[in-house]
Amino acid sequence: MSGFVEKPEPVEVPGLEHLHTGKVRDLYRNERGELVMVASDRISAYDWVLPTEIPDKGRVLTQMSLWWFDVLADLAPNHVLSTELPAGAPADWEGRTLVCRSLEMVPVECVARGYLTGSGLAEYRETRTVCGLALPEGLSDGSELPTPIFTPATKAEVGEHDENVAYEEVAHRIGAEPAAQLRQATLAIYARARDIARERGIILADTKFEFGYAPATLGAAGAEPVLADEVLTPDSSRFWPVDRWQPGRPQPSFDKQFVRDWLTSPASGWDRRGEQPPPPLPEEVVERTRAKYIEAYERLTDNRWS
Ligand SMILES: Nc1ncnc2c1ncn2[C@@H]1O[C@H](COP(=O)(O)OP(=O)(O)O)[C@@H](O)[C@H]1O
Ligand SMILES: [Mg+2]
Repeated sequence: MSGFVEKPEPVEVPGLEHLHTGKVRDLYRNERGELVMVASDRISAYDWVLPTEIPDKGRVLTQMSLWWFDVLADLAPNHVLSTELPAGAPADWEGRTLVCRSLEMVPVECVARGYLTGSGLAEYRETRTVCGLALPEGLSDGSELPTPIFTPATKAEVGEHDENVAYEEVAHRIGAEPAAQLRQATLAIYARARDIARERGIILADTKFEFGYAPATLGAAGAEPVLADEVLTPDSSRFWPVDRWQPGRPQPSFDKQFVRDWLTSPASGWDRRGEQPPPPLPEEVVERTRAKYIEAYERLTDNRWS
């Protein structure tokens, strides 16, 4: 079982059309045809969107994304137009709202991995490849790869898992030139971000980017991919604390470890493999998790959270 424990209702704002309620973000279109992305405080774990929010999480991750977009601006253009609140939007949207260029999204999740875990590890164990790329023998859960790899995936619906695909399959679906652009951009951005994070005590094990093109230009001569969605947040990436990294076992998660530990402990009374949705989180788990998001933001950006 998976999905929302309680699916939230969209907010009604005059001039905004509600498009989509994601696991974490809500999407609207304004009267200029731009996208308004609002990051909620929802959190997911074990494929569930939990019934408890982490106060300020959406704000912290939005500010983190903005910081990265800036740091990466010379490597890839991005979709951000402004952080201005639409007229009539609730005050709570402040700091969590991005007005973005509406793009034609490439139907491929552009994943870069510098370390082996998750679906990459599962494939490696069966065939010693990830997305068809051959890897050396002897790697285990959490091992650093000899060099970062591009491991694209097709996007799944809420509650389903994305499916890894070979690069050749991406080239076949979207064209050789766009596929090459996406691979190049994904690896270049990952390499820079990994180095920045590493200096600040965080291993960026892997991350997922989404790119779009100006409408009707995918595959056209001279068209450039635009970095969209959110970037390099703990929701789109695996962040591991450097000082606890130890290949050969699952690594602790920088942000969600308290949530996972509690949900799988007897205290929660919840069976991860059962039919029941997860219970609300206790206040202490919420507080400690909130502190981890803020710590990640402060460590990475060197800004104080306020
Ligand atoms: N600039 C953009 N133009 C069009 N669509 C975008 C843009 N940036 C992000 N998106 C899309 O907006 C949606 C954001 O939803 P999200 O909150 O991530 O929910 P989900 O749980 O469906 O991934 C995704 O489908 C993403 O591909
Ligand atoms: Mg998403």
